[in-house]
Amino acid sequence: MADPRLDPPKSMPTYAVRAPLVRWLGEQAADAYDALGRYRVLDVGCGAKPYEPLFTPHAASYIGVDSVDNARAELKGSVEALPVDDGAFDVVLCSQVLEHCDDPSKAVSELCRVTAPGGRVLTSTHGVMAYHPSPTDYWRWTHAGLEKLFRDNGEWASVRVTPASGTTACLGMLLSMYLDLMFRRIGLGVAARPLVAAINTAAGAIDGRSTLLHEPGPGTLFANFHVVAEVAR
Ligand SMILES: C[S@@+](CC[C@H](N)C(=O)[O-])C[C@H]1O[C@@H](n2cnc3c(N)ncnc32)[C@H](O)[C@@H]1O
Repeated sequence: MADPRLDPPKSMPTYAVRAPLVRWLGEQAADAYDALGRYRVLDVGCGAKPYEPLFTPHAASYIGVDSVDNARAELKGSVEALPVDDGAFDVVLCSQVLEHCDDPSKAVSELCRVTAPGGRVLTSTHGVMAYHPSPTDYWRWTHAGLEKLFRDNGEWASVRVTPASGTTACLGMLLSMYLDLMFRRIGLGVAARPLVAAINTAAGAIDGRSTLLHEPGPGTLFANFHVVAEVAR
């Protein structure tokens, strides 16, 4: 069966995180190829490597590392002490991991260390999300806090932080997660799906109507952020 993370349905309660993430990574995988040619990928906190198929058409190699025993990972180690040489990878992917690590500052400085000159780090992490240990769950960010975390912990040529989806999508996600949980508790899990799909459709349409809802500013609330951090040549 196809991995739903590669084609998230609107009935998925975390659609506001998953749909923009797969779209963004697909764009970044192609963009990195245009800029760097065939590249070496390190997937940090790789889990099941759901996004590997987006990168393999452009990649010379794809190596996963995880801090827990993981049959999909070629290497075992934490993002705070990566078991690889300086500058050994051109594209370093770290999706939905920073919120789980002990020391985000050390993690970002390691992501920078293992990236080759001219290479880039692609990170995604949560603004707002329910507690979800994997194996722990410590941190959430604002766009400003995430940008500061990167700028303070690496010699970057550029750092770009963008919200994955808008404020309505974030509120819709929280409501969808709650509905999904409630319906499953009473044994009617499938009944939540059309409701969640309708919420996600309406939220996307509402967010698209105003920059106040989808660009960072006072009063905004974002489920997830995407970071592209480039290392100087
Ligand atoms: C929510 S999953 C994300 C998996 C995958 N990157 C994705 O986007 O689907 C978090 C992953 O990070 C790993 N992880 C947690 N803390 C870590 C750490 N300090 N160093 C490296 N990996 C870590 C977990 O074992 C898990 O595989």
